[in-house]
Amino acid sequence: MAITLFPRLGASRRAGDPVPAPGDARPGPETTGRTAAPALLVEGVTKRFVVGREHRVVDAIRDVSLTVDRGHIYGVLGANGSGKSTLIRLVSTLLTIDAGRVEIFGHDIERDEMAVKRCINRVSVDAAFFKKLSPYENLAFAARLYGLDAGVARRESARILGRLGIAEKRLGQPTEQLSRGMQQKVAIARALLTSPMLLLLDEPTTGLDPRSKVDVQVFIEDLRDTHDAAIVLTTHDLDEADRLCDRIAVLDGGRVVADGTPAELKARVARERGEPPTLESVFMAYTGRSLDEDVEEGEAEEAGA
Ligand SMILES: Nc1ncnc2c1ncn2[C@@H]1O[C@H](COP(=O)(O)OP(=O)(O)OP(=O)(O)O)[C@@H](O)[C@H]1O
Ligand SMILES: [Mg+2]
Repeated sequence: MAITLFPRLGASRRAGDPVPAPGDARPGPETTGRTAAPALLVEGVTKRFVVGREHRVVDAIRDVSLTVDRGHIYGVLGANGSGKSTLIRLVSTLLTIDAGRVEIFGHDIERDEMAVKRCINRVSVDAAFFKKLSPYENLAFAARLYGLDAGVARRESARILGRLGIAEKRLGQPTEQLSRGMQQKVAIARALLTSPMLLLLDEPTTGLDPRSKVDVQVFIEDLRDTHDAAIVLTTHDLDEADRLCDRIAVLDGGRVVADGTPAELKARVARERGEPPTLESVFMAYTGRSLDEDVEEGEAEEAGA
């Protein structure tokens, strides 16, 4: 079933057209007179942390390049510590890049940070709420921060939360009484209030029960199909990546070790290595480990140490 989250973003809009948003005065993406810029361009990006009293160097992201097209779901796969969250935080301007460049709909994230912030929203695995407030109140608070009309925000909230399988009666009780799955849905609903053109989801389904996981996955697919939003998501779940993602990048030790469509990657691993055409084989072939193995202590740090 298709959903219409943002009625003004009609299906008649051509892919690549600037995306208007309800009541939003943000500048349009830089598309006039030339080919539409991709939703996200990451080129040669590097991020290094220096930690502890011994000034240990951690190369969290190393020379990463990738392109996310409009209307696509792009999956970033990687074991614990491979750099997924760091990449998401760099793209969402929460961290500064050490080298390389990032553009969002043609806007450089360093030179044009305000325009970028209006185009994106991020949901992290540990989304924060006012725990004593209800989902409605949390969303109303976010809406006010973003300057959205209270009535419109309330209607949109009810619609989005309903689509995510949250019953009306749950919307008024304190958020802390909701399950983690429910809370994750509320976090996604909150991010959607601003009609982001690029939605960054850091492990949107990790820790959810199977039913909530499917609800959120279906919702993400519907979003791509009806809103024409570009979505970047990180995941530990290969089946999820296979099902949802138009393209995938596999991160290992901060580097992209493979990228392509799931079908391309599976065909490549079968052709070149004689492995079964599954994303498990792809992950094992390019990282040398299975997805649930943690990166060894110290492994991520070795380059700069
Ligand atoms: N703020 C920080 N300061 C110092 N080191 C950091 C910081 N953030 C991340 N790191 C380090 O960078 C590396 C990549 O971490 P990151 O959180 O991006 O991995 P991840 O792929 O998201 O892992 P997970 O699957 O556990 O969420 C790790 O070695 C981590 O310890
Ligand atoms: Mg992470």
